Amino acid sequence: MKGILLAGGRGTRLYPATRAVSKHLLAVYDKPMIYYPLSTLMLAGIREVLVISAPGDLPGFARLLGDGSRLGMDIRYAIQEAPRGVAEALLIGEAFIGGGPVCLALGDNILYGEGLPRLLERAAARREGATVFGCPVEDPRQYGVLGFGPGGAVASIEEKPRAPQSHYAVPGLYFYDGQAAALAKTVRPSERGELEITAVNSAYLGQGRLHVELLGRGVAWLDAGTPAALLKASAFVEAVQARTGRPVACIEEIAWRQGFISRRELAALGRALEMTDYGRYLISCGEADDHE
Ligand code: TTP
Repeated sequence: MKGILLAGGRGTRLYPATRAVSKHLLAVYDKPMIYYPLSTLMLAGIREVLVISAPGDLPGFARLLGDGSRLGMDIRYAIQEAPRGVAEALLIGEAFIGGGPVCLALGDNILYGEGLPRLLERAAARREGATVFGCPVEDPRQYGVLGFGPGGAVASIEEKPRAPQSHYAVPGLYFYDGQAAALAKTVRPSERGELEITAVNSAYLGQGRLHVELLGRGVAWLDAGTPAALLKASAFVEAVQARTGRPVACIEEIAWRQGFISRRELAALGRALEMTDYGRYLISCGEADDHE
């Protein structure tokens, strides 16, 4: 399965912090925001990733991630000329996807928690239809929101509803079979002028081919699109890391644990950053004897 990391948009809610830099390059505590959704794709076993962003921002991502080879990955880049909607990623990435399955991740969504890797692997292994997740949030009105039928099955998915049918919002992580680009082509711009990913997901639902996995309390879903949300996301990462001694979304460690790079390569990546706790952690993983 291939992965698309969508990191365009305007980031207006974070102005002026994002006037000159993509929000996805801002730090969430100790690492760039894009590391978090990239680590989600990696935990799903994905090694080939297309990063899509605005023309002026792409060089920053390329400087940060390069061609992916140091992580044992293949990372490519494509431009979204204007923020015409999340579903446009499937059109921009059509040749990259090549008719196969793809996972689309939004660059400002952070998922962390118990059992998540297994859930991601399961979604990636499903060959038919689409898989999205449902996560309870206090105010779901700014997201795609699930509606449930009498038997508890998902009956609808609505984008930014004024009167949400439930508290279950859909995080920015979508697994699709080979039909996604074809379905995205049938989507027309919404009232706000965007190609909505919810329209693609609704099309799968209409065909009876949408799998929805509800996430429990063990998984945290954060987006970092406003100053307060960014601060809270940083505080969350700091608290987890300080308590457990394990970094959240450490892409180098994940590359090693997933078998993309060797222990020796991991230690070398750590030595390049050895002036930081982050680098020293990588060295300690790379030099440890066991697989812990
Ligand atoms: P949003 O948070 O909806 O939009 P934004 O990032 O432009 O921010 P703001 O509302 O503050 O102006 O986007 C969600 C994610 O999807 C985010 O990571 C940016 C990305 N995105 C694109 O890359 N291209 C798009 O056309 C859209 C709509 C979003």
